[in-house]
Amino acid sequence: MEKQLNEAFDYIRRLYDKSPGIGIILGTGLGGLVEEIEIERSISYNHIPHFPISTVESHFGRLIFGKIGGKDIVAMQGRFHFYEGYSMAEITFPLRVLKMLGIHTLFISNAAGGLNPTYRKGDLMILDDHINLQTANPLTGPNLDKFGPRFPDMSQPYDKTLIARAEEIAKQHHYPVHTGVYVAVIGPNLETRAEYRFLRMIGGDVVGMSTVPEVIVANHMSLRTFAISVITDECDPDHLEPVDVAEIIRVAGEAEPKMTHILSSLIRSL
Ligand code: HPA
Repeated sequence: MEKQLNEAFDYIRRLYDKSPGIGIILGTGLGGLVEEIEIERSISYNHIPHFPISTVESHFGRLIFGKIGGKDIVAMQGRFHFYEGYSMAEITFPLRVLKMLGIHTLFISNAAGGLNPTYRKGDLMILDDHINLQTANPLTGPNLDKFGPRFPDMSQPYDKTLIARAEEIAKQHHYPVHTGVYVAVIGPNLETRAEYRFLRMIGGDVVGMSTVPEVIVANHMSLRTFAISVITDECDPDHLEPVDVAEIIRVAGEAEPKMTHILSSLIRSL
């Protein structure tokens, strides 16, 4: 893996020689953040050696280098999911490369189903913790000692200062926001009623199909990590309606300006 990482890194370095401190994974709900980037360079994933290629149509596949509020950033437009058939190592490969390029802080967004009965469709949730039910882990196999330890700590996977700051920004603008626990499942099917009931019982506030592999690797590499979900559907096991993917996309789109605003304010505050 180290050889592949070095080849990807060398390729990017030849095209862009700055070291951005901030990495952003533009998941669902953060597409609008692209408008805030003063773009200096963008590189398609399919040109970068060993990068996986995105299969989900609504996700592009490129790295964007530039500035937000004067800060050097690199954004992943297009991310990878376990349900697409990638291995955990493939999903998190780009993040390892971003670390080699110099990032110390990582921002992630996603769409998730609301398990907590007090959460409403369209609300946002800042991740304070997670449960990995993806039955796989990106850190299995030989440890990459140059990135981090064999047994990384996971007692506070999300940065407390950034959480507090995001809560403050949301409060000032009267955005409906919670702070809670994200459960990662494989997907791609939505959950059964019995599964939603189970996920509530084990302490989940929202459920989704992404983010946790990247957060595990980010913690392995000691990145300061922040993640936020847009709640696109309410998962009430006793009144469950059939999933409407178009509706999920609509709700995510509606929440996008709020997510974008919180993220760009956080970046400016660093
Ligand atoms: N379950 C899993 N992933 C999701 C959901 C859900 O209910 N909603 C949006 N992403």
